[in-house]
Amino acid sequence: MITPETIDKIMDAARVEEVVGEFVNLKKRGVNLIGLCPFHNEKTPSFNVNPARGIYKCFGCGKGGNAVNFLMEHEHYTYPEALRYLANKYGIEIDEEKPSPEQQQAMDEKESLYNLSAFAQKYFEETLHHTEEGKAIGLTYLKERGFPLETIKKFGLGYALNEWDAFTMHAKKNGYKKEFLLKTSLSKERDQQLYDSFRGRVIFPIHNLSGRVLGFGARILTSEKNKPKYINTAESDIYHKSKVLYGLYFAKSAVSRLDNCYLVEGYTDVISLHQAGIENVIASSGTSLTTDQIKLIKRYTSNITLLFDGDPAGIKAAFRGIDMILEEGMNVRLVLFPDGEDPDSYARKYRPVEVKEFIEGNALDFISFKTNLLLGETKNDPIRKAGLIKEIAQTISLIPEPIARTLYIQQCSELMEIDERLLVAEVNKLRRQKFTRDQKSGSSQEIPEPPPEYVEKQQPVQVTNGHQEKEVIRMLLHHGDKTIEFEGTDELGKTVNIAVKVMDFVVDDFNDDQLGFDNAACQAIFNIFASHRQKDSLPHEQEFFNHPEEAVRQLAIDLLSSPYTLSHNWEIRHRIFVKTEEETLKTSLLEVIYAFKLRRLEKMIGENQEKLKEAREEEEITRLLEADRQFKMKRSLFAKELSRIVTR
Ligand code: UTP
Ligand code: MN
Repeated sequence: MITPETIDKIMDAARVEEVVGEFVNLKKRGVNLIGLCPFHNEKTPSFNVNPARGIYKCFGCGKGGNAVNFLMEHEHYTYPEALRYLANKYGIEIDEEKPSPEQQQAMDEKESLYNLSAFAQKYFEETLHHTEEGKAIGLTYLKERGFPLETIKKFGLGYALNEWDAFTMHAKKNGYKKEFLLKTSLSKERDQQLYDSFRGRVIFPIHNLSGRVLGFGARILTSEKNKPKYINTAESDIYHKSKVLYGLYFAKSAVSRLDNCYLVEGYTDVISLHQAGIENVIASSGTSLTTDQIKLIKRYTSNITLLFDGDPAGIKAAFRGIDMILEEGMNVRLVLFPDGEDPDSYARKYRPVEVKEFIEGNALDFISFKTNLLLGETKNDPIRKAGLIKEIAQTISLIPEPIARTLYIQQCSELMEIDERLLVAEVNKLRRQKFTRDQKSGSSQEIPEPPPEYVEKQQPVQVTNGHQEKEVIRMLLHHGDKTIEFEGTDELGKTVNIAVKVMDFVVDDFNDDQLGFDNAACQAIFNIFASHRQKDSLPHEQEFFNHPEEAVRQLAIDLLSSPYTLSHNWEIRHRIFVKTEEETLKTSLLEVIYAFKLRRLEKMIGENQEKLKEAREEEEITRLLEADRQFKMKRSLFAKELSRIVTR
């Protein structure tokens, strides 16, 4: 809650070249400075800093922004953290607004949950190292599993005594309230008696991004059939399992440095791989992979490699993971471990170099993965081959980026020896079907179904239609200044090409149809473009990055700072990107606009029909029916236009 005045002061003081210069070796080149981009691997510098404008931009990977954005991207700071860093650097005092009583209470409550979790972590750790039972049972177990003391300490592992309420009593004695003991699910209540949730188990603390403990996984040490192997912290104000990744705190810098993230299934897999010197590894423990978790990883890399058990359950999980990751516009590769082995058991059997070699040597892209798995020996069976092609086309159709889709289609057609055009047609058909489904269900592809096993515990799924709106804004931000051509006629009736700036086209089109945005941040960005359209000027990215409203800044940064990358093959990406972008800009733009309008029409049709149900006056009914007819006519027009574009 830093005041806007302070933010202005900080932004005025911050010199982008000084801030970036602390992390990147910059050299003067004309009015600008250049260096090797810290966000991707490169040998010749394409990372530009423009002191006059206060921004940086990499022409290799496309990342760009101002000093604050740099800190958020490079140091993974939140917005307030970045501001504080700058305030400190430039000796600016931060005058903070007082939070409201409600905000204060919510903050205090979360803080209490964090404090108690930290207290519990320390207690479990001490119990492991300094009690007879802890040493004899917990420590012995961990050592037998091959975890050296150093690793046990690094991950803060612990032990919970096999007693009824040892921890609860200890916590109460130290002044921790019942309310928070229950909210963190460290204690449970029966007949007004509190008792420990974790008893006779080894404890894996789970950390948030800044290293604070927010939950625990607790593994049983006996082989009782009727008890779960792991008990995990329940949902709370600080612990949302669908948004937590085990090990991310320890892995994040390796993930960004190596630009790849290994995703495993369990706590012990993470620890054993670290042990083998592989540190860019995290687990989606206690839940099947969620979109929120994928988005979290996307802050550090756009490449995920799934390391799964080769049993049927692992394969099923891999298939699901592939689709979800691709839908987020990220790259996915897979490694299946020999049936019955998981990364942990493998890492215990083999030497670190062998583990590394195994993973690197067995990582497959999803097309080869599916092909190997589904086709097997019967490669010449045409029916199976057709089924497989359909299956792969299905997955390709989920990829949001047309360029990436094209690349995968090429690869698949080569691998399967089928005509590329056939595959394009199949993918387009599937995209059309998916599009219709999304329209019908009113949900965008951004909101996946929650895994059934967690439905009752999750907050209600929010259905937003923000997807199409954001796509329009994304187009404006990325391509607003480019031109597209339309065919028109001049005064003499001759066909000519007319060049229009993308932002002018969009602004005029939206104003003509009097279309607005539901999402306030989208509207705000659109308005900035509209006012520049009037002045015939171009907005500067800075205007969005420094916008007074957080939501607007975030949206602009989100939409501008995550270009799709196929980092495994820069050469190809570059060649095709350059060629394809120009060719597809107009089509993509029209696709986005029609999708937006169609969505809007659907909404209007729905609202109109609601009114029809209520209407009693004949005159009104006639009017509404006419409106319904008009809307539907327009809808079929748009739908036809859209499917023509999508399938072209
Ligand atoms: P696994 O059953 O594969 O366990 O579950 P593991 O990680 O290999 O553990 P070890 O090696 O037997 O000690 C994978 C993950 O699923 C979650 C845990 O996060 C576990 O690490 N899980 C499993 C639960 O949350 N509850 C369970 O009862 C079992
Ligand atoms: Mn295991």
